[in-house]
Amino acid sequence: MNGLLKFITCGSVDDGKSTLIGHMLYDAKLLFTDQERALELDSRVGSREGQIDYSLLLDGLMAEREQGITIDAAYRYFTTEKRSFIVADTPGHEEYTRNMAVGASYANLAVVLVDASQGILIQTRRHARICALMGIRHFVFAVNKMDLIRYDEGIYWKIEKEIKKLAVDLELAHVTVIPVSATEGDNVTLQSSNMPWYKGKTLLGHLETVEVEDASEEEGFVLPVQRVCRPDHTFRGFQGQIESGSVHRGDEITVLPSREKAHVQAVFVTDQEASQAWKGQAATLTLDREIDVSRGCMLVKDTELIVSSMFTAVILWMDDSELTQGKNFLVKIGTKLISAAVMDIKYRIDIHTGEHLAATRLYKNEIAVCDIAAAEEIVYDTFQKHKGAGSFILIDRVTNMTSACGVVEHSLRRSENIVWQKLDITREIRAGRMGQKPLTLWFTGLSGSGKSALANELEKRLSVAGRYTMLLDGDNIRMGLNKNLGFEPEDRIENIRRIAEVARLMNDAGLIVLTAFISPFAGDRQNARNIVGETNFVEIYVSTPLEECERRDAKGLYQKAREGRIPNFTGISSPYEAPKNADIVIDTSRQSLEESADLVLQALEKYM
Ligand code: ADX
Repeated sequence: MNGLLKFITCGSVDDGKSTLIGHMLYDAKLLFTDQERALELDSRVGSREGQIDYSLLLDGLMAEREQGITIDAAYRYFTTEKRSFIVADTPGHEEYTRNMAVGASYANLAVVLVDASQGILIQTRRHARICALMGIRHFVFAVNKMDLIRYDEGIYWKIEKEIKKLAVDLELAHVTVIPVSATEGDNVTLQSSNMPWYKGKTLLGHLETVEVEDASEEEGFVLPVQRVCRPDHTFRGFQGQIESGSVHRGDEITVLPSREKAHVQAVFVTDQEASQAWKGQAATLTLDREIDVSRGCMLVKDTELIVSSMFTAVILWMDDSELTQGKNFLVKIGTKLISAAVMDIKYRIDIHTGEHLAATRLYKNEIAVCDIAAAEEIVYDTFQKHKGAGSFILIDRVTNMTSACGVVEHSLRRSENIVWQKLDITREIRAGRMGQKPLTLWFTGLSGSGKSALANELEKRLSVAGRYTMLLDGDNIRMGLNKNLGFEPEDRIENIRRIAEVARLMNDAGLIVLTAFISPFAGDRQNARNIVGETNFVEIYVSTPLEECERRDAKGLYQKAREGRIPNFTGISSPYEAPKNADIVIDTSRQSLEESADLVLQALEKYM
């Protein structure tokens, strides 16, 4: 018996995916008798006038039956004498690309349906490209509805030629093409007598025998550490699912990123001690010496992984909102979850033609090549070399949704030849001479909310109290350091990033920094907090309502924005994401400037 085959079916709405799989189950006698009876009954009122409608078998979801399309991915398990299968039946509609990507990430073979009466469609290319992106290396193109073209050999060979060309374009590794009729059952489980010119296997025959484990393709042993198991002080085991290769008791392994080495003292598979463990197994390893290993580290043998903080990747953007350059996320790569930003969208790939198109933003379902920078060095690999270590997802910090999935193309070792210089005079020494704790007081709020005035008043008070301070104000900094930036989202992201870096440097100098920038995006403020450091960062939300800011309109900008003369104006034509957990909140419409400053100063005491 061959090992388990996990496959995904993809096709457009009317290609007959569900019918094909349903027919396979029916023919292979993989149904329970009552299921079979129900199917016959159901078909009587169905769309095939009393003939069995095999698609009913798979249409598990009510909504899907009502709309006649497949939504979400439905997983089904079945087994024949020769093999066990798990099939993910996924939606064909463009809006469900996310589900398809999820189904594909889990499969090692894709059955792509092609309608023989229509040939290769735009969707066929899209499906094949997404599957390839998600790491599928084995493809079966089932040219369906052969009955509708009267089993015409000529038309089939023409389509087959197109598929072969597509396979070259997309660099698909292993491709098989089979002419079938899902409704009539030709070449599904039984060789069709209607197409004597086709000499290959039936679809089920192929699925039962195809070899999908390319052991040679991934090198060495890789175990991403998911958990450190410490039931008592005598035992310290590192647990995770083996990504590739195998490990034996006594093997020397390297821990990444630290590059420390140790020997494997014991191997456990589930709770049993074993002499070895291999790919796919959940294992626990103990080592012969104490080294620092935590979640997100990788244990490796006979292979090199990359340790760096920047890489170039192909991503599939799946979020309803658009992606702008500089946007900050959580990236999950291996078992590591860490802050990261999409630094640069290099180009978008036209899903249909493969063309590279210039892009500064990405919209839902687009594929692009981007540079991604993590907050610190992480362990990963190219997708080509290690599937598991080379694929990742981007998680939105605010909604917690998976916004994108991607695969690493290559590492960017921009920071490789730059070594952090250790300085003798430290922040602590500098701040100590000033007799203060360096802080960044980050004011955020709408234009006209009173950030600048309040920060200015506060700086005066701090100064009088003998503190050493510096005020960074939006309008002023935009005349100098940031004069090359406008108000498009990507510019605002960069504006805030630079200010956060400058604030950190000034904190290093020992200063208390006050910043007054709208900083409208929650993700950017979080990023600023990461850059400055949690213990030095105080977020002060100047919550003066929009009506009041607009009433004040000190610079006359709201009026201009209302007249449509300023694009992307915060609060009017560009969003302001109000902080949910600001350290201090102050509404300047409720009391005088002096009173507001008093309140903030009081609240600040515990941070000083
Ligand atoms: S931020 O969004 O990137 O944080 P920042 O605080 O630097 O903005 O600059 C805001 C100031 O720029 C406003 O107080 C206003 O004077 C001016 N400004 C000009 N155009 C805009 C705009 N489209 N949106 C908001 N502020 C603008």
